[in-house]
Order: sequence, then C-alpha cells, then structure tokens
Amino acid sequence: MSYIRKDSGSVELADGIRNLGFQDADVVTDFPPHSSPRDAVERKDSAAEIDDSVYAQVEPYAGMPKEVLLLYSSQARYRVPREVLFWLTVCCTLALVAVTVAIIALSPPCLGWWQISPVYQVYPRSFKDSDGDGVGDLRGIKEKLDHFHSLNIKSIWISPFYRSPMKDFGYDVEDFRDVDPLFGTMEDFEELLAEMHKNGLKLIMDFIPNHSSDRHRWFNLSRTRDPLYEDYYVWADCNATKKPNNWVSIFGNSSWTYDEVRGQCYLHQFLKEQPDLNMRNPAVRKEIIDIIHFWLSKGVDGFRMDAVKHMLEATHLRDEPQVDPNKPPEEVTTEWDLFHDYTTSQVGLHDILREFRAEMEPYSREPGKYRFMVTESYDYEEVEKTMMYYGTPLVKESDFPFNFYLLDLPQNASGLWAKHLVDLWMSNMPRGKWPNWVVGNHDRSRIASSAGKMYVRVINMLLLTLPGTPTTYYGEEIGMENINITADQVQDPFGKYNLSNSRDPQRSPMQWNSDMNTGFNNLTNITWLPVHPDYKSVNVEVQKDSEGSTMFQYNFLNSLRQAELPFLRGWFCYVQADANIFSYLRELDGHKEAYLMVLNFGKQSATTDLSSVRELPDQLKVLMSTNSINNGKVFQKSGIQTEAGEGLVIRYSTYTRFHPSHATECYVSEKACYLDTVGILYKC
Ligand code: GLC
Ligand code: MG
Repeated sequence: MSYIRKDSGSVELADGIRNLGFQDADVVTDFPPHSSPRDAVERKDSAAEIDDSVYAQVEPYAGMPKEVLLLYSSQARYRVPREVLFWLTVCCTLALVAVTVAIIALSPPCLGWWQISPVYQVYPRSFKDSDGDGVGDLRGIKEKLDHFHSLNIKSIWISPFYRSPMKDFGYDVEDFRDVDPLFGTMEDFEELLAEMHKNGLKLIMDFIPNHSSDRHRWFNLSRTRDPLYEDYYVWADCNATKKPNNWVSIFGNSSWTYDEVRGQCYLHQFLKEQPDLNMRNPAVRKEIIDIIHFWLSKGVDGFRMDAVKHMLEATHLRDEPQVDPNKPPEEVTTEWDLFHDYTTSQVGLHDILREFRAEMEPYSREPGKYRFMVTESYDYEEVEKTMMYYGTPLVKESDFPFNFYLLDLPQNASGLWAKHLVDLWMSNMPRGKWPNWVVGNHDRSRIASSAGKMYVRVINMLLLTLPGTPTTYYGEEIGMENINITADQVQDPFGKYNLSNSRDPQRSPMQWNSDMNTGFNNLTNITWLPVHPDYKSVNVEVQKDSEGSTMFQYNFLNSLRQAELPFLRGWFCYVQADANIFSYLRELDGHKEAYLMVLNFGKQSATTDLSSVRELPDQLKVLMSTNSINNGKVFQKSGIQTEAGEGLVIRYSTYTRFHPSHATECYVSEKACYLDTVGILYKC
C-alpha cells in the first residue's frame, strides 16, 4: 500500500483512508528554540503516552517512523513469533552444518572412474580400420565409441599408437611425442580424445619406459657417442661372438647385440630393435617424465606402464643362474632357462615408478580429472613382487598392478583352481587396496581358445562379479576365438622366433557384423591378419539384441555390477569350492539384497548343497544364468544345479550377514554400511 504524506501531521493512505496516527519523525524530534534536550525527552515521553492510546486503534502501516514501529514490534504478538523464528533459523542452520559435517565425516570416499567401469583394451591395429589399408586406426576407434556406450564401459586403454617402425607393433617407439601415420595424425588423436571426453569416456595410454626403438633419435646419438646421449642405453664391452653375459631376451636368444658403429653391445630385454633405456641415468628419467607431462597436458586420463619389471638391470652384469644348471650354456636361450635375478625387479625400480606417479599427481588435482596408473609386471608365483606396485600407505605408486592370475584359469578346469587363483590375489593384496582381474590381452590366448568356448560366459561372469576392476580385451565380450596362423602368415616377431609363441592368433580383427571383413574394413578386401571364420555368428551386431548372447550377458552383468552396491562396495566371501564349483557371495551391511554366485568351472554338472550356510534363505531364485533358460529358476539351497560351464547369479533378501561369522573367508577394500531407510552409505 502506498501513502501520501500531508503537512497536517497525518497521512492519507492511497486508497483514501486517513491515518490520524501518523506523526512525522521531524515533528517529534524538533526541539522548540531555547529548550534543552532533556525537555525534548520529556516531551517525547508524554507524546508517546498520548500516542499509545491512539496507536492502539490504528493498524500498523507501511512507512511508519521508527518509534512507532518499535512500539508495535515490542508487543508480545510480534515479538514472540519473531524470536521463535529467529531461534528456529539459528537451530536449523546449526543442524544443517552438523548434518553436513557428519555426512562428510561418515561417508566412505567416492569410488574413482577407474574403479567403477571395467577397463576395455583396444588393440588399435585390430579394432576398426577407417581408411581401408587393412590396419585399424584412431579414426576407426572414434567411429566405434557407441560400442562402449552400449556396454556401459567408460575406461578405454589403447595399446601403443606412437610413431614406430612396428617391429613389435608399436611397442618399439621411434618418437614418443608423435602418432604413427598408420594410425592417423596428432589431430586424429586430439579429436578422438575430445570425442571420448564428450561422451564421458576416459583414455588410458600405453606407456613404454623400458625401451625405445633402435630408430629413435636417442639411440642414434648414443651409438655415435654424442656426449649428451652416450649413456642413454645400456652398453657393455663385447665382440661379435662373445657376449657380456648369459642374459636372454624375452623373445629368445641373447639380450645383447653388437653394434658396429659404437663397437660395443647394447642390451635389449625384448627385440634387438628395442634397446633398453638406461634408467639409471637421470637425464633419461627426465626425458621420460617430460613425455609423461606431454601426454597429461594433452588430457589423457592415465597410463598403462609397460614391462616395468625390466626397467633396471644389475650394473655388475654377472651371469644369471640357470634353472637347470646342467644345461649346456649354448642351449640357454629362452626366458624360462634362467632365474632373472639381475634383469628384473631390481632395487630402485619402485622409486622410479613413484617418481613418475608423483609427477602425475598435480594433474590429478584438477577437479574430476583423476589420472590413473596401472603397471604391467608378470611375476608369476612371486606374488609379493607384484604387490609392491601398489606402493605404500605413504607413497603412491600404481592404482593397481595388473592381476594376471586368472589367465591361468584354463590350465585346470575346476572350482578349486578358480578359487586358488582368486585367492592368490585376495590374500596377498595389501589392506585397503583395490583388486583387478585380467582374463585376456594382446599377449595371451583368448579365453574361448584356451579354456574352451563353453567357459567363456562363466569366466566373464566371474570377472564381472568379483570385487575390483575387471579388464576386458576387445572381443572377449562377444566370445571371440583365436585364429589359426600358418608359418607364412606370421606377423608377430615373437612368432617368427617360434611359431607356437606367436601372439597373432589373439590379435585378429574385431568382429563387428556379418558383412565384408566383418565390418572391420568395409572399404577394401585387406585385413592385416585374417578374420576368424566364425564371424557370421560371433559378432557385435548379431549379439547386441539377442537375449542370452555372450554380449547381452556381459552387458547385463556389467550393469548389475555398477548398479548394485554389494558388488562395488560390499564384502566378498568364499562359500564353497570343489572339483566343479566355485561359489562366493557379495553382501553389504544394512543392504537387504545380497548375491550368491555359483560358478561351475568343472567338466561335469553338479548339485551343490549349501544347506549348512545358515545365512542363506532356504529357497534361492536365479537372477541370471549363463544358460538363459534357467533364469528365474528356484532351487532349494540344498540342491543348486549347474551344468559344466554354467554360472548362476542368485539374488536373495536378508539382513543376516555372512561375513561376521566367517571373517577369514571374507574381504572388503573399504568397509562401508548402508542405511536402507534413507538409502545412504556410511563408514562403519
Ligand atoms: C609388454 C607388451 C608386449 C610387448 C612387450 C615389449 O609385455 O604387452 O606386447 O611386446 O611389453 O614392449
Ligand atoms: Mg631395462
């Protein structure tokens, strides 16, 4: 309401009502000439007494002077609600702050992107060829980003695409700051990365700190003894026939090659075209760190550190002990003939990796830009060596070292063996660390070929329901098989040394559809390796929407894993292991739904009796079976049936937890509990 002031000492309200109570503040405080301030106070007091009764009949009005306002506001009917509101606001604010602090303090840390999504390995030569030269490329990967979306996969590791003479298909790097023209250009890379980030995908690069190509500029400067580069590689005196020692290359034969230019031998733990960098030289480490910065500032989200255990060698260059001391030295030619006491896992190796990691940390601090590191080291039975790559509670190293134990699953098809391999990791992993599982990569046979087709689904089920990050090699989601390679088709240098070592069989083109070249190259009729003949039935297009297909099941399990807290956050407990069955459960305190996995890795069908497991309800309903006709089936817990190669995910409801009474059978990385009523997680 507006009002019009009149000089008369009253005010006329805009809608014509005269408010007699209006007193101009000036009038009240205006002292008559020659009167003292005390007189004025007395006058004011008496005026207030008079006014009190007048005001009592008048409603408060907008624009009333301070004195009038105070008069009203001190009345109980105004004061009390005001005070109540004031204290209510104070209390609410304090409560809100307290709740926020409590939630922050009680919440378990958020999981990182590298924990939530599986890591998908793209072998760029074989994924998708966009220009028809028969070799996959970066633009090809960009064309296929939808595939990751449809699989609910966010983390993509791309094997090397650096400029390279391709002796080891990119693991022999000529320029660590450039893209090989076979794979595209730096612009292609930048576009791919931008497109991936736009789609919420993370790009993990392969990083090769142990060696370069013999065509790298550094190597040429080193063999010509340029003073700055002289010690960039590992050189030793020798002559064309007498090598410095008995060390052998992973790819076979001596790991020393005589260089005529320099008149010395250089070390190569892999091909002779892959000379080992001298990581003891600070200038070399500085070069490597600069390259890490180069790619991190381009925005890559992490690195897969290649062949890290080979980074340092003993400087004394003594012979390594032979596995069979009676073998004639000239027959000592393979990795398996020697104990690698002086060429792998040398003291100082972890300091180097930790230094790399420290260089990555500032980039990780950018909000939402965590940079991830995974290390590749095959330590076989020396599991404690692998665990070192987790770093220490105080010094960070890799987020996890690759866990290769499940690659041995096909060696012995049984539930006990599966449990043994899983437990190798779980019982040796440092407390609070995050596990991971690899069932295939570009160096190892595909599951369908090593284990047999009938085990592909159950192995994927294991991979996606264990705690930690699963790794999937391209094609495993559709159950691709190895191809057969004849001696004249061999591409892999390792296969040229010995055909049975060839890694070509697991590197065949990704099977996209039933068209020409399975959609890998739809421009010309060339592919760098033959396409598997089963591509008409085993491909992404046919499997995508077909319920019960390997890919459909992969997708279902991956989505379940990401949607259901017991899988990402919960306990992992062994329930049973025998000749056929490996059974375990996933549960979370306070979460009503829990999951029982019954996986048959054996050769026979089995009836599993879990009646002694008190925590399980009597009736168990199958949420998903690898054999989809069994979906929804209900079993008594005393008789859970599975065929050889069948896996079951059983969902059941109970608040009774298994882990409290089976502490030695259970693991959790970071303890968390769930408050069902409000749906939040808290530390417990
Ligand atoms: C790693 C790679 C392998 C490569 C070797 C040498 O083991 O996975 O493919 O040949 O390192 O770089
Ligand atoms: Mg080395």
